[in-house]
Amino acid sequence: MEFPLEYKAILESDLQNIPLTNLRECFETIMNRYKYDSGKGNSLINSELEAKVYGAYRLPSTFKAVSEALNHCLEIYNDDLKSIIDVGAGIGAASLAINLILPSINKATLLENNKYMMGVGNNLISSTRLNDKFQYINYDLSKDNLDITADIVVSSYVLNELDRNSRINAINKMWNMTNKMMLIVEPGTPEGFSLIREVRDYLISIGGYVVAPCTHMGVCLNTWCHFSTRVSRSKLHKDLKGGDAPYEDEKYCYIAFSKSMITPCENRILRHPQINPGFVELEVCSKDGFKKIKYSKKDKELFKKARKSDAGDQI
Ligand SMILES: C[S@@+](CC[C@H](N)C(=O)[O-])C[C@H]1O[C@@H](n2cnc3c(N)ncnc32)[C@H](O)[C@@H]1O
Repeated sequence: MEFPLEYKAILESDLQNIPLTNLRECFETIMNRYKYDSGKGNSLINSELEAKVYGAYRLPSTFKAVSEALNHCLEIYNDDLKSIIDVGAGIGAASLAINLILPSINKATLLENNKYMMGVGNNLISSTRLNDKFQYINYDLSKDNLDITADIVVSSYVLNELDRNSRINAINKMWNMTNKMMLIVEPGTPEGFSLIREVRDYLISIGGYVVAPCTHMGVCLNTWCHFSTRVSRSKLHKDLKGGDAPYEDEKYCYIAFSKSMITPCENRILRHPQINPGFVELEVCSKDGFKKIKYSKKDKELFKKARKSDAGDQI
């Protein structure tokens, strides 16, 4: 699902009267902090303007990555999910995505420890008339404890900001908050995947059931399981980052676990399908490991499905 234009307009409106040189300077400062200071437990957004620029630049991408990951999960597990806890919610991308995909949601609790992110998020929530459903709580995932639960607990692009020692503790807290399903989304880098693999191993060891993207609960043989989603770029996005391309590809990794037993999908497509005259070849992850599957015209529906499929889809 694309980031709604209404949300984009709200996020960008405050930035319209600020000179572009100031916005670019702010953007560079944020990018440098994300590059050199992430993973140390330090605050990466340190002013209201930084939170606004972060929102305008990153929300469409994190929103789209969470939407895609959630849609993959819902094909496997969809048990009347009514409430969300969004850990390290930032401006609320993950909750906004889940809320739009699942009309059953009646409550979203956004846990965040950065006052500037909360400020911009609260403005977006009230401007989109979500005040009755969405509520922020000032919460530090590394230090605080909170006795609340929700059907879905989500964290998107958060664990990589914590220092290594805090991560397992954070996962335990999130798992304790989970009634039904926990979804973790991280950048689609090798480091992002290694973090996701760490979470996978740990949750399997404490009794979680993998929902997606995995096809089994055995040892993962993938070296870099990641997916990509195309995000359209606004004029402001181009002005900040440079370049004319109308879109950019957001790479992400994710893992979702359920508290109840679940049967994962049989085959998950790992690469873009190779479409040949008369047949389609897919590279998939399955419980028997990686394999290539061919569907020819005589496979009728499966052939049609394979032709339209993409990396990340199940088949
Ligand atoms: C890269 S942003 C992602 C925000 C949002 N989840 C998204 O997908 O757009 C990471 C967020 O995690 C928050 N965060 C980092 N460490 C945290 C902690 N210890 N407790 C609570 N939030 C934290 C940051 O303040 C920031 O808002």
